[in-house]
Amino acid sequence: MELSSATQGAIILTIFILPIVSYTYYQRRLQLTAGGPLPPPTEITSLFIYPIKSCHGISVPSARLLGTGLDLDRQWMWVTYPDYKFLTIRNLSKMTLIRPSYNTETDTLVITAPAPNSVDEKLHFEIPAHPSEEWLANNTDVVPATVWSTTTPAHCYSTTLTSPFDNFFGQEVRLVYKPPISPEPRRLIGNGSKQHLGRDASVCFADLMPVLVGSEKSLAELNSRLKKAEDTSFSIPIGRFRPNILVRGDKPWDEDRWKMLRISPAEKSPKAYKAPLLDVVARCARCHVPNVDTETGEEHKRQPWDTLMKYRRVDPGITFKPCFGMLCVPRTEATVDVGMRVEVTATTKSHRYVKGM
Ligand SMILES: *[C@@H]1O[C@H](CO)[C@@H](O)[C@H](O)[C@H]1NC(C)=O
Ligand SMILES: *[C@@H]1O[C@H](CO)[C@@H](O)[C@H](O)[C@H]1NC(C)=O
Ligand SMILES: *[C@@H]1O[C@H](CO)[C@@H](O)[C@H](O)[C@H]1NC(C)=O
Repeated sequence: MELSSATQGAIILTIFILPIVSYTYYQRRLQLTAGGPLPPPTEITSLFIYPIKSCHGISVPSARLLGTGLDLDRQWMWVTYPDYKFLTIRNLSKMTLIRPSYNTETDTLVITAPAPNSVDEKLHFEIPAHPSEEWLANNTDVVPATVWSTTTPAHCYSTTLTSPFDNFFGQEVRLVYKPPISPEPRRLIGNGSKQHLGRDASVCFADLMPVLVGSEKSLAELNSRLKKAEDTSFSIPIGRFRPNILVRGDKPWDEDRWKMLRISPAEKSPKAYKAPLLDVVARCARCHVPNVDTETGEEHKRQPWDTLMKYRRVDPGITFKPCFGMLCVPRTEATVDVGMRVEVTATTKSHRYVKGM
């Protein structure tokens, strides 16, 4: 009996190809769910940008997600003079009283702060939010700015703009800017280094990684413990942890095993949207900064640090610090909106914070 070539093709497909394809698919599936089954999709409930490192944040309905994080997030930073070392809430908790706001009409960043020794006066200046190279060449000098162990070229603004802030800080300071696209980007280190991530990625002035994702469910769980530890009226807002993307979340602390995220419109829209993927590269190990009330600049003596230390020292790579939120590196650029859907597309059991290169 002679088989037609179509039948032969079908036989070859069934006997040889199909098992390989299904095996590969199965293996891939196993790999993607190495940290357990994928949780149900959740949604973005808030987006936050912190234009100046350690200063007050802004809640926005929509933001451009860049390789370096949300646009306007931590692109500016206060530094010491003359050595251009980063200044943070850790040095001066009242830095959170410096409030940047964004004027969409003029594309400017407006910065205000309470003037020292005055109730009514405010320190104030404005700068372009997306300065051109020419504007930067005319108005700034390039200096080497240091954040933790990394030093990167940054644009330093004139003291005619910023010197009123010397009094606020109690020392001579400068304001520096790092554009998201830079000839000398600040490369990621640790779990974000090329060696670990498999590609080059960079960030402006965030401590470590481009994006911090937090979960409302985890905050609620933490707050229920804080109420017990302190009193029933005690709770902290999410702003203490300074996340960029806040999601509703599934189970509290389920984010500990996230490996990859995809963001997409809540409803399938006819408009083509290239859904960005984010690598979840590490848990975010915390210091005492969440103890600072971002509205008053006052630091609580115990909470949430004491409570977090009791049960959130969960990362085997950094056991002396508690973790809250997940640090992510976007693979592609896109506009993200509050209400968008967030899917965990891979889970892992092997999260382990690595330091340095
Ligand atoms: C500010 O705080 C950081 C983090 O604790 C520290 O590394 C840095 O040396 C401090 N800088 C100054 C000028 O105090
Ligand atoms: C930069 O300075 C030059 C020379 O003073 C001036 O012609 C130009 O308009 C300035 N550009 C910007 C963007 O400020
Ligand atoms: C971070 O790097 C360590 C060491 O290579 C690795 O074990 C861990 O899985 C990495 N974390 C993530 C989330 O990739």
